[in-house]
Amino acid sequence: MCGIVGYVGENRATPILINGLLKLEYRGYDSAGLAVVENGNLAVMKNKGRVSNLEELDGINNLTSTIGIAHTRWATHGRPSAENAHPHMDNSKTFAVVHNGIIENYNELKDFLISKGYTFYSQTDTETIPNLIHYYFSRDEKDDGDKFLRAVRSACNDLKGSYAIEVISNLSPNECIVVRKDSPLVVGVGTNENYIASDIPAILPFTKNFYLLDDNELTVIKKDSVFFYDNSLEQHNKAIKNIEWDALSAEKDGYEDYMLKEIFEQPNSIRETIGSRLKLGEECNFDDLEFSKEYLENLNKIYIVACGTAMHAGLVGKNIIEKLCKIPVTVDIASEFRYRDPLVDEKTLCIYITQSGETADTIAALKLAKSKGSKTLAISNVIGSSITREADYSIYTHAGPEIAVASTKAYTSQVVLLAILAIHFAEILEASDKETLENLKTDILDLPTKIGAVLDNLDDLKEFAKKIYTEKDMFFLGRGTDYNVALEGSLKLKEISYIHSEAYAAGELKHGPIALIENGVTVIGIITDSKLVEKTISNMQEVITRGAKTLVITNQNLPNTHFDYVIDIPNTSSLISPILSVIPLQLLAYYISKYKGLDVDKPRNLAKSVTVE
Ligand code: G6P
Repeated sequence: MCGIVGYVGENRATPILINGLLKLEYRGYDSAGLAVVENGNLAVMKNKGRVSNLEELDGINNLTSTIGIAHTRWATHGRPSAENAHPHMDNSKTFAVVHNGIIENYNELKDFLISKGYTFYSQTDTETIPNLIHYYFSRDEKDDGDKFLRAVRSACNDLKGSYAIEVISNLSPNECIVVRKDSPLVVGVGTNENYIASDIPAILPFTKNFYLLDDNELTVIKKDSVFFYDNSLEQHNKAIKNIEWDALSAEKDGYEDYMLKEIFEQPNSIRETIGSRLKLGEECNFDDLEFSKEYLENLNKIYIVACGTAMHAGLVGKNIIEKLCKIPVTVDIASEFRYRDPLVDEKTLCIYITQSGETADTIAALKLAKSKGSKTLAISNVIGSSITREADYSIYTHAGPEIAVASTKAYTSQVVLLAILAIHFAEILEASDKETLENLKTDILDLPTKIGAVLDNLDDLKEFAKKIYTEKDMFFLGRGTDYNVALEGSLKLKEISYIHSEAYAAGELKHGPIALIENGVTVIGIITDSKLVEKTISNMQEVITRGAKTLVITNQNLPNTHFDYVIDIPNTSSLISPILSVIPLQLLAYYISKYKGLDVDKPRNLAKSVTVE
């Protein structure tokens, strides 16, 4: 949930740490802090609020140390405050720690440490870690070069839960020790300097060479070396991975906000998602998958499990897979699935969708299905993310870093990837005729150009947003896959404009929500399925009769109607129309948020990556 940065090298650590934190503010932004080894002592500086508040602290620019750790926080244990901000130190001020994740047994550990004479100054679970390290360090009688490492290892052995931690000590001023368990952490390799980060964009301006750390791997980082150890402190080697993300693509690129940039990136992100997987006249190709016809024929269902926007992508995917492959698909929310004792076994394929690859509920849901004998397939945007290490198979959306908390390009790439996967399965199963599949492939390949056309035509949308941005409630209606888009449009609006909204299957209108429709209420309709046009229009007519203001997004030639605004989008297969119809909804939420003067990229109370339950 939080962002972590670290540096060991020859340059001043502070500017590098702050630069990295600024890139990670989307992971947490209620307080920030850093620790360096300054003239033989640990110097810790932290402040409540944004990273800019940290930058303003007196003396921060005087720090000359070339080693340091830093953190931007999204509170879990203890309210946002300077005391609860990271780094935390042990009582003797020998060890400083930043931590991402949750220590589930921290109460137990705290009681133990208090019984040994330790005092706690914050309400965080994290403060147990430096004190535990000190506890083990001070009891280790062997005074060799590995004493610090042994203490960190022993402390980690006591921790239950998830963590990515960085530790520095004034007793060992040239090294930083890091460990991860179920929480992301990478080491970036430079020349005579090494970097640490919870997310690649934080250090992408400095290097493209990374070590992707494994769970429970103890890593000792000095300016000219990186050593990896297992729990028995046996050393092992690890390959460097070259990440081809361009540093600029992790920046705003001239756009006012990351969200707007990411919305406009969609033609390109979708091109990347398609990559070499789909070509006309050829069968779809997934290098990393090896599902046989026999395996797919024997499946009695597919589960798609995810959270938030990724779950909405799953709903669109269900429709495509069922239509093309004739396999029943159930979509479930990860936090429900994991506690429902789901009926999955070796005849179920479980697909997990997660932009970050770090969502705690989604990972837990995957582990559960695996334990029940089902094969698991992860769809993620982040190479080497935690879920991809657990899944039997992983495929990537390749949408590039998504920084804005509200997901946009990840959603459209997830839907595209699900569509290509569905075609792939249908080809193996011979479940759909070739012409249907070929037509769908053409439509998928045309998406980038058609998205470009949607993005060129925004005046009406902006005007409508200006009319309605002060409202308190809105409704989104659609049928079939248009209902799935309505759900996503409504979520986007809630997330970044704080306007209450509800999405309904249009046919459900008369079963309750129509009671809320009165003069001036805004209703947004999505109408892209030719078979359902008349039905949805008549539902929209019902709200117009009751005085609603209406906006309709459609790729159909609608008969003369009384809608206030109609946004025309290009036609495409109804299976993938959500990829086009969601874009005006993303932008509507965006413009409303801007008119309200809100922070689009960092909506209140939300975090990009929810790595705790
Ligand atoms: C958070 C984010 C959402 C995202 C969801 C799932 O709630 O704010 O934008 O859809 O997590 O994240 P994931 O990384 O698993 O796709």
